[in-house]
Amino acid sequence: MDSPHEAEAYARADFAEVNQAFVERLLDLAGHLKSVKALDLGTGPADIPARIVRACPGWHVVAVDASRPMLDYAQKTIREAGLSDAITLVLADAKCTGLAPELFDVIFSNSILHHITDITRFWAEVKRLAKPEATVLVRDLARPASPQAARTIVSRYAEHESELLREEYYRSLLSAYTPEEIRVQLDCAGLSMLEVEMVSDRHMDIFGRLP
Ligand SMILES: C[S@@+](CC[C@H](N)C(=O)[O-])C[C@H]1O[C@@H](n2cnc3c(N)ncnc32)[C@H](O)[C@@H]1O
Repeated sequence: MDSPHEAEAYARADFAEVNQAFVERLLDLAGHLKSVKALDLGTGPADIPARIVRACPGWHVVAVDASRPMLDYAQKTIREAGLSDAITLVLADAKCTGLAPELFDVIFSNSILHHITDITRFWAEVKRLAKPEATVLVRDLARPASPQAARTIVSRYAEHESELLREEYYRSLLSAYTPEEIRVQLDCAGLSMLEVEMVSDRHMDIFGRLP
């Protein structure tokens, strides 16, 4: 989402319901933790970290994205919500953030795995940045069984979105991983303690606690 056009289409779309569902899942896993340093990989317009720090005033979120136009939207979200002290934006690739190792109690990410082809480096970065016993929640699309099945999902869930967003959604579904592929990736990364679970007809969660 490097182009201002794509960033604008995404930032304008209404993801309130799915974002809130993600936040509730994260709070189920880690909401009891106080004074947390959390990391959001691929934060987009920063709606999810904004919801999290409102729900958990003791949390600080470092929110990373590789797209400057998207971070401009994130900056606007944070400034307008008065959350600049609780969320720090970082322009970086999620596969090589340049952040110090073992920094985070909680690492989360929504809807970016399908953007990443060199996925080995993504999981290595998650492992490198997590403190011992860190909680991880990564949610993404799971690839449907066929292009036709992907079209059906687009019609079902994005009928009223713009043409640009519907095409982006279709491409995203086709470039997503399957749960089986993710399990192999986690084994290779030394993260086999994380679980992989389908949580809807199109989403999977990768979650758990590191040793
Ligand atoms: C579908 S959006 C999801 C945004 C946000 N997580 C949400 O759920 O609202 C994907 C985001 O991931 C970012 N992204 C894609 N590849 C990335 C990478 N390698 N490193 C950092 N950010 C990336 C894009 O710029 C975009 O903002």
